[in-house]
Amino acid sequence: MAEAGSFAERVKQQADVVRVIGEYVRLKKSGQNFTGLCPFHQEKTPSFAVHPVKQIYHCFGCGAGGDVFKFVMELEKCTFPEAIRTVAEKCGIAIPRPRERSPEERRENQQRSALVEMHREGAAFYTRQLHESPEGKVAYACLEDRGLNREAMMKFGLGYAPSSGDALLRFLKQKYPETLLEVSGLLSREQNGRFFDRFRRRIMFPIANEAGKVIAFGGRAMGDDMPKYLNSPETPVYSKSNVLYHLDRAKEALRQNDFGVLVEGYMDAIAVARAGIANVIASCGTSLAEPQIKLLGRFTRRVVVNYDPDTAGRTATERSLILLLEKEFDVRVLTLPGGADPDKFLKVQGAEAYKKLLTQAPPYLDYLIDRARLMDRTTANGRVAALNFLMPYVQRLPNGLLRSEWATRIASELHVDEPVLREALRRAVTERRSEVKPKAELLGPSIKGAERRLIHMLAEADGFREKLAQEIVSSGLHRGLETEKIFDLLITKAGERSDPATFAEALDERDRRMLFEIFFESFSEHTWDEAESCLSVLRNRRVEQELAELQQQLEAKPTAEELRRIITRRLELQKLLAGQ
Ligand code: UTP
Ligand code: MN
Repeated sequence: MAEAGSFAERVKQQADVVRVIGEYVRLKKSGQNFTGLCPFHQEKTPSFAVHPVKQIYHCFGCGAGGDVFKFVMELEKCTFPEAIRTVAEKCGIAIPRPRERSPEERRENQQRSALVEMHREGAAFYTRQLHESPEGKVAYACLEDRGLNREAMMKFGLGYAPSSGDALLRFLKQKYPETLLEVSGLLSREQNGRFFDRFRRRIMFPIANEAGKVIAFGGRAMGDDMPKYLNSPETPVYSKSNVLYHLDRAKEALRQNDFGVLVEGYMDAIAVARAGIANVIASCGTSLAEPQIKLLGRFTRRVVVNYDPDTAGRTATERSLILLLEKEFDVRVLTLPGGADPDKFLKVQGAEAYKKLLTQAPPYLDYLIDRARLMDRTTANGRVAALNFLMPYVQRLPNGLLRSEWATRIASELHVDEPVLREALRRAVTERRSEVKPKAELLGPSIKGAERRLIHMLAEADGFREKLAQEIVSSGLHRGLETEKIFDLLITKAGERSDPATFAEALDERDRRMLFEIFFESFSEHTWDEAESCLSVLRNRRVEQELAELQQQLEAKPTAEELRRIITRRLELQKLLAGQ
């Protein structure tokens, strides 16, 4: 993140992590570190620690950890550049003006601004068509029919694209060059190369970016034209998976209420917002994409998914759930009765009924168990299918305690043997270890003292870091260890200045946590003797493992020849262990 010589790097060197974090958390000195109540989870006794020398923080409870920028990003739910700015301001570091851009960059920026301006004018054009043209009157009546009044149409910037096929083209052609019309996504080309309007005879929903600038449109067919909704293609200003409809208006409410309602469609978002629930966003299309989740996560990590109760909606719900859980969102699912989407439900039942159901929306696992209940639980095959349906979700739960609670629930719901279920779950979790984030309870004790010491030395022992790295590489003693990736990283960095926060960026979350926990341990002064004794612990452990394997082979009734080999090898190993 913070590249050498960059402004970020400079801020980081000057900023004091204890002072910056101290503005958010009451920190107390404890030994060489500072500790306090973790701001990222609820707790009564402090498990949050800040390391003033290494300039990192780590929570032994929830596992949050990183450098000063990560702290500000997570707490303020902001981007990296915003975090740099915040830290710089807090530390009184002057912020430089944006650097002079390359001609290419400047051209791209100009193109983007022109496209945004074109969309603003396009939106105004469509609005005029809706309110003023004879053809627009039909669309206006349609929208009224769907319960929208003039005020709502204005508020959400709704418009109408006329059927002629060149109305928008004629309007835009006067002001913009062809090259820009070409990439705008508002026009298409005929075989002969002539432009025509992409949107014809459609009700237009402007799609805005986070800053409220229109960057694309969704067009709803008037009758049964296909497709029902036509959307802007990807353009230099619009990428579908990076935008959430209505986010620009929902931002404040998302932060204040600390939860969002996620719906499928434009009309749903508008209806829910009009019911007084401003914290609604729509994925617009079926399932949610990862960048959209990241975007939402900057405002809240709690979501009620309220997709249409049809097959497509259910599939989208279930796919979105997986992604949301992986990103550690707290997810509930609202399924409206009577097969209604939010828009229809609100129209028939009203805002109060909707709000009531919203507050009662069950946690996602209740929803999933209900879905699993629909499978045939009278046969073994049906139960296996139900279990396979549920497993991917449960194993994505980052919290072991929760996982265990749900295992009990699922076992009783599906009438499966609880120990068997737990075993299957345990296996599923470890197999997917690189993707799920195990929390503290899965770490710690399994990393042996020698491993931890060696890791600490590789990072800290300035006198012999490189020598130690070479020793480990040539003996391969770290291979197969739980900490192998950490060793690999530290070995490659042994010749450089030790920089814990940079190490963190190269590791996945699980390894980063292990490493930080080791950093916060206090070890006595490192010596080469100590390094050698740690290495021999690893060496002996390897020998013991092989001995255990030989023992198993012995018990498996070997042939006479195998027996001879086993015994010879065992003798060799025992000698090694005895130090001969
Ligand atoms: P729906 O088919 O549920 O439409 O699609 P809707 O929002 O209920 O629309 P009305 O009420 O019939 O007018 C939900 C969302 O999926 C996207 C749109 O964003 C739509 O709002 N969609 C749907 C498309 O992008 N293309 C389509 O052809 C259909
Ligand atoms: Mn719908």
